Amino acid sequence: MIGIVKTALLLLAATLALTAVAQTSREAESWWSPGDSRVLPAVVEYDNAFGKLRVLNAAGAIRAGEHAFFAPLGENGRACVTCHQPSDAMGLSVETINRRWRETAGTDPLFAAIDGSDCPNLPQQEAASHSLLLERGLFRIPLPWPPRSSEGSVIDPEFTIEVVSDPAGCNTDPVYGLHSENPTISVYRRPRPVANLKYITELSHGVSPHEYFYPNDKSLLPKDPDTGAFVAHRLMSDGREPTLKTQAVSAAIGHLESKRPTDEQLAEIVAFESQIYAAQSFHNVAGPLTVAGTPPVLGPEALRDGAPARLGNNPINRIFGSFAMWAGSTPVEQASTAAGPPLEVQQSVARGADIFYLRRFMIRDVGDYNDKGLGNPFNRSCGSGCHNMQLIGMDLAPGYMDLGLNSLPWANNRPDLPLFKVECHADAKPQSYLGRIIYTHDPGRALITGKCIDVGATLTQQMRGLAARAPYFANGSAANLRELVDFYDRRFNIGYTEIEKQDLVNFLSTL
Ligand code: HEC
Repeated sequence: MIGIVKTALLLLAATLALTAVAQTSREAESWWSPGDSRVLPAVVEYDNAFGKLRVLNAAGAIRAGEHAFFAPLGENGRACVTCHQPSDAMGLSVETINRRWRETAGTDPLFAAIDGSDCPNLPQQEAASHSLLLERGLFRIPLPWPPRSSEGSVIDPEFTIEVVSDPAGCNTDPVYGLHSENPTISVYRRPRPVANLKYITELSHGVSPHEYFYPNDKSLLPKDPDTGAFVAHRLMSDGREPTLKTQAVSAAIGHLESKRPTDEQLAEIVAFESQIYAAQSFHNVAGPLTVAGTPPVLGPEALRDGAPARLGNNPINRIFGSFAMWAGSTPVEQASTAAGPPLEVQQSVARGADIFYLRRFMIRDVGDYNDKGLGNPFNRSCGSGCHNMQLIGMDLAPGYMDLGLNSLPWANNRPDLPLFKVECHADAKPQSYLGRIIYTHDPGRALITGKCIDVGATLTQQMRGLAARAPYFANGSAANLRELVDFYDRRFNIGYTEIEKQDLVNFLSTL
């Protein structure tokens, strides 16, 4: 009886929640084309496989039209929004990419040769030439070799790099490859969401020694080239851009094949990026996520109102707050039979939150992490280990780390990606756990610093709006949330039970 009343209340609440939202987008309208003259409402919801994602413009509705984030600034007809779609939590899911391919027979500017194909020299009308994008949601990121400093001077790298396998042919290409006139390394990466960015750009608070230094080697953080102020340094998987402004300049020149945007356009882009929030607002089974009695961290309003760059101090000061109101009293072993579906899934989500916060495991052999004086192995949970920033779940530090997503022996089997052999010079400090000779699909931070210890290391990313933007990890190696959980289970020998894995997936799908 209580279950039925609760279900009825949930349904009523769901109806109320929906009528409170200014506009609920229909699937056909979800794609934003460059130069689209529609208005992006202050609040808008989009369907996804798990429920609905809500996008919140804190500064009010945006008239897309000529807006610099939505306008085709360059040669290829793309806008920033091409790869950062509101329906996909301001990222881009592989499902959306495939729908776009079908709807436009591959002619959308999204598939532009420069980085929307495996290599610009391939026959562009063929789907096979865009396989990394269509199958894994990956864009080509061409980076100069040897690396350049932010002032443009050449960095003398501590290692040599060799192409071992090159399925797309770009790294061995005479025009685009490593031995071309402009020696270039092509790696393939997922877009990162352009939402909730105040958490990512704000300097750390309350962890004083970390405020202006990297925790690993105590060197100073980079500075904003315009103001000279230290930056938080959490942007891009390899941290190559200090600010949203420098990032927008590179993105316009690289992805849009544009000239440098004007200062007004750059200011408009940065202002837009700094006020947009995205998070799941409705779960197909658990019900509405942002009504009274639901975990207070859920939905984009909590992100708008939250304090950025705070350390989640487990278990007292939890990263994603309390899920206790959903915990119920059903013992785990009876969970699958004891209650109706919404209650059951809410309890599963609450258990998933507890696993994320509290369930410790041995974190072992993570380059740029275990070797920072933490000890190897280091006994921590997901939250207390690396996903420690309140409300967002990325590393506050800022911390690079090599989880093993790209480097052998840990990487998932990825014959579709290029494989590089990195060989560190005898006098260089080697990568702590992989030694002097490393096989990797993406050297990550090391392509920027030229340092051996950074091979494979990347910055963690935020964990909001996950339901809207599969696949996961910078190289798209987890097709869904279950594969993501399985990677950790395998990598760290955690031994999650089947119910624990489902609990984690349910929890992640509500964020
Ligand atoms: C062709 C697809 C594409 C287009 C177009 C594009 N981006 Fe991106 N964006 C990406 C990819 C891929 C990454 C991640 C790159 C990496 O990690 O090395 C990214 C990352 C970002 C990030 C970093 C977010 C974070 O949390 O680290 C920001 C900000 C961003 N893009 C803004 C923009 C802006 C502004 C424009 C337009 C000028 C733009 N993007 C156009 C693909 C795109």
